[in-house]
Amino acid sequence: MRKKIADDIYYVGVNDRQKGLFENLWPLPQGVSYNSFLINDDRTVLIDTVDVCYSDLFFKKIEAVLNGRPLDYLIVNHMEPDHAGSIRLLRHFYPGVQIIGNKQTFTMLAGYHNITEGLREVKEGDTLESGKHRLTFHTAPMVHWPEVMMAYDETGKVLFSADAFGTYGTVNGAVLDTEMNVAHYWDEMIRYYANIVGKYGNPVQRILKKLSALDIQTICSTHGPVWRENKDKAIALYDQLSRYESGNGVVIIYGSMYGNTEQMAETIACSLAANGIKEIAMHHASKSHSSYILRDVFKYKGIMIGSPTYNGQLFPEIDAILKKIAACEVKNRLFGYFGSFTWAGAAVKRLAAFAEEVQWKVTGDPVEQKQSMNNETEAQCLALGKAMAQALQ
Ligand code: FEO
Repeated sequence: MRKKIADDIYYVGVNDRQKGLFENLWPLPQGVSYNSFLINDDRTVLIDTVDVCYSDLFFKKIEAVLNGRPLDYLIVNHMEPDHAGSIRLLRHFYPGVQIIGNKQTFTMLAGYHNITEGLREVKEGDTLESGKHRLTFHTAPMVHWPEVMMAYDETGKVLFSADAFGTYGTVNGAVLDTEMNVAHYWDEMIRYYANIVGKYGNPVQRILKKLSALDIQTICSTHGPVWRENKDKAIALYDQLSRYESGNGVVIIYGSMYGNTEQMAETIACSLAANGIKEIAMHHASKSHSSYILRDVFKYKGIMIGSPTYNGQLFPEIDAILKKIAACEVKNRLFGYFGSFTWAGAAVKRLAAFAEEVQWKVTGDPVEQKQSMNNETEAQCLALGKAMAQALQ
């Protein structure tokens, strides 16, 4: 069935419900879509392809729209294989297709697909006319690879935005946000952003500035719904995330072998709640996947981390998540920390070093507990939670 999303513009993307982990890293409990769009104008223009595993279905969808017409152009907004994976086969089936990209696109195209001919290089502000539609190209380096660009259709006021504004989760039947309940996509947009784009706040801010000059009515990302009635919300969320702004909630991330550090985390959570914090997310680092922990680090202003001392070091799962958090270069957070030990404490010292590394504002007095909770450490945990709650308000 042909899916039209705007005048002359068809959705030819696919859903992936097979893959367990995106990039073999990030869980896909609700799958993911690889979006591709075909402009059926005087000249035909395909925008991005899909993961090669879905090329058979993809080519059937293209053929259903073209109905025997040739494919004139392929715009490659992004070379990551979830979108560029079918380019070699596309060239095989449509040998006359001219491939449009920038200088960096073509270096990658040669490296991945050995394609070096039939190319048209574009730079910032260059245009492509297909008949009724006129597309302008805007480079978006590091959102989230260096070759990324976006194409803006002046005629339909449609932005083809590559990964930006994308989400995990398949599109189930409908593609346009006007035709579905999108509530479950917002958290998945934050998780996608935190996992994939998170490190690149400044490049995202640069492209948002460029986009602010355009009259965008529809956003076609490479993943998730096409945004029309929620386009402003999607842009605002990207603006917020890339400025590392966050809600006044708290995420508590902790490791615990036998429940003692966990009891500290629970006590802190109770104190936060008693002092007015309504949004509290808790992650046992041995249970929660880092994908979701990172999402909440982007989501909340208050970050509290607890670790037992393990062989004179941090608990390994906490050590691992700290490295992932530091790699995202998240700024402007309030940080509270705590830990426990049995015979010689090390975890709390290492959490102090982490606070310096990420330059978050240490909030409240850190709590270090020997063995199990007593009246003194309980009071200290309650005070730590209260200090965080007060700082957030
Ligand atoms: Fe959806 Fe960066 O690829």
